[in-house]
Amino acid sequence: MHKREIIVCRSTDGLAQQGAAEFTRLAQLSLRDKGRFDVALSGGSTPRALYSLLATAEFSRQISWARVHLFWGDERCVARDHPESNYRMVRESLLAKIQIPPANVHRMAGEEEPRTAAAEYEQELKDSFQLAPGAFPRFDLILLGLGDDGHTASLFPGSDALKETQRLVAANYVAKFNAHRLTLTFPVLNHGADVIFLVAGANKAPVVKEILKDDRQPAPFPAAQVQPLDGRLVWLLTEDAAPN
Ligand code: 6PG
Repeated sequence: MHKREIIVCRSTDGLAQQGAAEFTRLAQLSLRDKGRFDVALSGGSTPRALYSLLATAEFSRQISWARVHLFWGDERCVARDHPESNYRMVRESLLAKIQIPPANVHRMAGEEEPRTAAAEYEQELKDSFQLAPGAFPRFDLILLGLGDDGHTASLFPGSDALKETQRLVAANYVAKFNAHRLTLTFPVLNHGADVIFLVAGANKAPVVKEILKDDRQPAPFPAAQVQPLDGRLVWLLTEDAAPN
């Protein structure tokens, strides 16, 4: 079962501030309680401002980065320095400005053959979380975005990975891009302790409204399938993305 919270921010700056504060609060709790903070980062453009804020002294000095492990929720199948790389976006906005051990930065290998990269990342999760066979990693925090078609991570409408119930990572063919993407699967997302959607922009409002309309009857969008089994689900929205 999950608790669902909806937090509306006045602007994209407010969204970034709220997101950075929540990241910091959860990091401090995890570091206190288990000595480590495992987070899956969202790609896309919305979270860039949040990551940049985390890199500022105001937030960064509150986080023991040496005990933070950064993962990605999904990645495009491109090189790490490609303009569309989610890794590159995080490197530019955060990694280049903080002191974090390279071993704590768990990049998806977008440059590799997709199925190989997915299998490698799955193994990296198993190793990093020391998973028993068949177990799923429990991220302390999963940050997610939302597309105006209702996708999240790289779980796109009509794509095969929507049906994955066992694997941790999928090499998901996305017809609209005629390309594969690497993505965490729903079982992983739904094992998260705190799962936070960051959504900005009026173009997202219709799909947000549909998804938030009734959490007993999930709307027919991939993002509506994110329902943490034993965790907290937060929709962090700008005013123009929120249902009025
Ligand atoms: C990606 C993301 C994807 C993103 C949404 C929203 O790799 O693009 O993981 O799920 O979060 O498409 O993207 P924007 O934040 O750019 O609107």
